[in-house]
Amino acid sequence: MCGVVGYVGDRDCTDVLINALSKLEYRGYDSAGIAVFERNKIVVEKCQGKLKNLVTKLESEHKPLGHCGIGHTRWATHGEPSDINSHPHGNKRVTIVHNGIIENYRQLKDFLSNEGYSFESQTDTETVAKLLDYYYDGNPLDTITKVVTEIEGSYALGIIFRDFPDTIFAVRKDSPLIVGLGENENFIASDVPAILKYTKNYYLLEQDEIAIIKKDRVKVYDVHHNLLNKEVMVADWDINSAEKCGYEHFMLKEIHEQPTAITNTVSPRVFDGMPNLEECGITVDYLKGISRLFIVACGTAMHAGIVGKYVIEDLARVPVTVDMASEFIYRNPIIDSSDLVILISQSGETADTKSALKLAKQCGAKTLSIVNVVGSSIARESDMVIYTHAGPEISVASTKAYSVQLAIMYLIAFELSYAKEKISLDACKEYTSKLMDIPNLITETLEHKNICQKIASKIMNATSLLYIGRGLDYALSMEGSLKLKELSYIHSEAYASGELKHGTISLVDDEMPVIAVATQDRLFDKTISNIKEVKARGAKVILVCKESANVDDDIADYIIRIPATDNILMPMITTVPLQLIAYYTAVHRGNNVDQPRNLAKSVTVE
Ligand code: AGP
Ligand code: GLU
Repeated sequence: MCGVVGYVGDRDCTDVLINALSKLEYRGYDSAGIAVFERNKIVVEKCQGKLKNLVTKLESEHKPLGHCGIGHTRWATHGEPSDINSHPHGNKRVTIVHNGIIENYRQLKDFLSNEGYSFESQTDTETVAKLLDYYYDGNPLDTITKVVTEIEGSYALGIIFRDFPDTIFAVRKDSPLIVGLGENENFIASDVPAILKYTKNYYLLEQDEIAIIKKDRVKVYDVHHNLLNKEVMVADWDINSAEKCGYEHFMLKEIHEQPTAITNTVSPRVFDGMPNLEECGITVDYLKGISRLFIVACGTAMHAGIVGKYVIEDLARVPVTVDMASEFIYRNPIIDSSDLVILISQSGETADTKSALKLAKQCGAKTLSIVNVVGSSIARESDMVIYTHAGPEISVASTKAYSVQLAIMYLIAFELSYAKEKISLDACKEYTSKLMDIPNLITETLEHKNICQKIASKIMNATSLLYIGRGLDYALSMEGSLKLKELSYIHSEAYASGELKHGTISLVDDEMPVIAVATQDRLFDKTISNIKEVKARGAKVILVCKESANVDDDIADYIIRIPATDNILMPMITTVPLQLIAYYTAVHRGNNVDQPRNLAKSVTVE
């Protein structure tokens, strides 16, 4: 989900590409590269690491001199960050840069290998480059059209063909891509910041539209080769807001990226309607042999593990122990070689979780990490790794990473339950199908942002809040409470609502708002009773429940009704209003939303 750029015009192409890529650095990446026509030959320069590494390489080795080319900042999803996995990819005939995930790359790679192609990288992207070469018949538009009908997944592609040294080609599906329109020069970019120095005018490429870009002419076609009459957009963002694609904060952008992040994480792991984690070494036979699980993580990642515990134990009847890593490493846990220890970490660099991984391995357990950053320490040191495909998470408060961690928990739970013969094939497919529909329900839930904003204005001056719920709703209360604390600096506590009466309810008065989560049908009435208990003591109550919940409006001061799905999947929907309430409360309080005080995005010290 990182950066694609391209240029054709009279300027020094390499300088323009480097400048454009520098405006996309905020998005987080692990390597960079360019491909420039130099004396009608495609010259590729690329390397792992930050853009300055590429600049140093260009200065010390060779800076391509030309007026047409493409560039890329990579956020690895397939293949470790390395020089060879960096983009561009291709050969002297056709070279590409790619943002996104090619879900059927393995099938394509097998086909191309049988056609005599060899591969030098571990990336999914390289299969697209070789497929373009395979189909190339001298007509780029025909070639690109054939390829996009065969690839599945998300892509923003910048493409150059050796036979067309004055032209760049672009096509996208699900990953964003614009065509910048300058004076006798034109551009492609993943988003507006990359071109703002040169022009504010651009075309927004729609799904599978193919752009053919020369310095003095841009043509855009649909897949049927109809020439399209595109509307010229004018960027009215300043450079800072543009980096957030128009959102006020990265956190709000990342909350809205959750549907895409979940699709990108789940879809490549579902085959014939069933979860398939074989790419990570997890087979049904392996799962059959598992007798118990440990899940170890910190903060939000741990909260994802707690949801995983509830779901795995409920469906697969396999005992799961969840530990915060900082406790796990010092409690002398009873682990042996028959155990599987799952470590969850967005950054893959959290010191406590790394120490937990080390301890688990010392105890002889098998280790599986669920990580968002490819090639990170925890990923590299685990026996198995499942990468989430949330893309870079810039905001310190984790939102989309949490959602995709939940999604992986569900895939593991469904496949483990099936392997243990606790659910049927049809039931497993049914759960998996509902999981794949979650992005649509989240999109629908995001429409409730106004009530969340209003609630935030009502709680912003509270000194302390309670989040209450039962079962999965209690697990979500933990995450909602952490979000509020870390963003608004207001104290809050998640409490099992059935436990309130054993002491904590003494805290409740009209100064303590209570956010009650009640999405679990079989626990709903009991949580409603708990709501009545706290209301009787003066609390202002915010209820989060299914839109179909049978409650009178006066049961709570505010009711957020969210789309319903299977009870076991409700956490993926419930988290959205809790994220939004925390976000807007922080905004109302004037806090630094994306970098809350005292916090770091990755806590690399114990
Ligand atoms: C979550 O909003 C926090 N930023 C924090 O709790 C975070 O989840 C925790 O530090 C774990 O980080 P990791 O997922 O990168 O390991
Ligand atoms: N999936 C491609 C890779 O891993 C592209 C990742 C990106 O969007 O930067 O190289």
